[in-house]
Amino acid sequence: MDADSYVDVPKDLLKEIERLEQLFSIDTAKLKQITDHFVNELEKGLRVGGGSIPMNPTWVMSFPTGYETGTYLALDMGGTNLRVCQITLTDQKSEFDIIQSKYRMPEELKTGEADELWEYIADCLMQFIETHHGDTAKLEKLPLGFTFSYPASQNYIDEGVLQRWTKGFDIAGVEGHNVVPMFEEALSRRGVPIKLTALINDTTGTLIASAYTDTKMKIGCIFGTGCNAAYMENCGSIPKLAHLNLPPETPMAINCEWGAFDNEHKVLPRTPYDEMIDRDSPRPGQQAFEKMIAGLYLGEIFRLVMVDLHDKQGTHIFDGQDISALRKAYSLDSSFLSAIEEDPFENLSETADLFQNRLGINPSKSELELIRRTAELIGTRAARLSACGVSAISRKKGYTSCHVGADGSVFNKYPHFKSRGAEALREILDWPEKTNPNEEDPIEILAAEDGSGVGAALIAALTLERVKAGNMHGILHPENFK
Ligand code: BGC
Repeated sequence: MDADSYVDVPKDLLKEIERLEQLFSIDTAKLKQITDHFVNELEKGLRVGGGSIPMNPTWVMSFPTGYETGTYLALDMGGTNLRVCQITLTDQKSEFDIIQSKYRMPEELKTGEADELWEYIADCLMQFIETHHGDTAKLEKLPLGFTFSYPASQNYIDEGVLQRWTKGFDIAGVEGHNVVPMFEEALSRRGVPIKLTALINDTTGTLIASAYTDTKMKIGCIFGTGCNAAYMENCGSIPKLAHLNLPPETPMAINCEWGAFDNEHKVLPRTPYDEMIDRDSPRPGQQAFEKMIAGLYLGEIFRLVMVDLHDKQGTHIFDGQDISALRKAYSLDSSFLSAIEEDPFENLSETADLFQNRLGINPSKSELELIRRTAELIGTRAARLSACGVSAISRKKGYTSCHVGADGSVFNKYPHFKSRGAEALREILDWPEKTNPNEEDPIEILAAEDGSGVGAALIAALTLERVKAGNMHGILHPENFK
């Protein structure tokens, strides 16, 4: 928005807009400083003793060739939905068929009892199998890739220990425990004919699914309810696995869990609003980076700014109006911010309608300007910070040219997220300006293939293949693979 739009904005609001601009803008020098620290932290996470970024080895030990075959089930336990898929990797290179069903993840399950969660999941799987396979009694057990997108030691299927819940989940008795036996018990109680072949993260799935169709894909990212990335490391660069004496050139996909970057608050320019989010979250002190970027938090950051300005002495916003709906924590999600940023009208009439319909608030023209600018600042900051993570992995691996596969609601739906991220990558990595608008950037962040469906199936296939070839690393109970 140019300065002309603000000519009629009263002084107190102008002052606030300037303050918010200072708080939320991140210049090139700062982006570079964050990226430098990020590279060090990625390395630290691979060492014995580690750092705040977990850098979990996933035991996915190759890229797909495109010639994987077979039929697999995939289960995706995301932040919002539960999705069950059946994927057939066909004889045609890089081709697959998929059938799928989505089930809503009831909100109360996210903070309820562990047993209820596992039983709900087992029921959904059973329903899916009955619908697509009929009588389950005669069925041979189907191999399943389970996309469990939380920080857990992954694909190490007998040690799928959940380090901690993220994305607002808070179910007692699961953190610090292996989720695999809990899940398997629920399956056997319900008699679901499934053998769990791989426990995967959505980012690893995204990396593998994207590399199945595009060999330039080197990094998989999710910018959705949560945010995270995975990439392929060499075992020789993972000191915390040195005791296993794996050949140094052997690939190992790493689920970074980069949401935990800078939990010690050394470089990220946190605002008082970020501090409030953290303080009132189920896990204060955790996921510092994620809380500034992920879809779960963007609307809440915006809401906190609005409430703060309303309550502030000397600042007049929504004066005399009932803001009780706005006071409700997490009542605005990132699609609310998307809608504000997408408002095509000069007078921001769609934003005005949104405030009226959703919150019962009638913003003035100047308040609408402030609302739009605040949304832009929060959305832009998220995109620019995301680019620090992508640049850090690229720098660590020495990638000067590659594709990055990205998925998630923020990446796919938030306006300008892609172009703002691309612009920040250019600044951080010092690329010259494009001479032709159609030119590809050296590192392009592109829409990924379906990681938690096709990716999970591929990882199940790769795991079965390597076990068959005698590579038992990370597999504690080979009998599960007979
Ligand atoms: C989780 C990650 C996941 C990411 C994206 C984060 O909250 O910790 O495991 O990959 O969200 O879904």
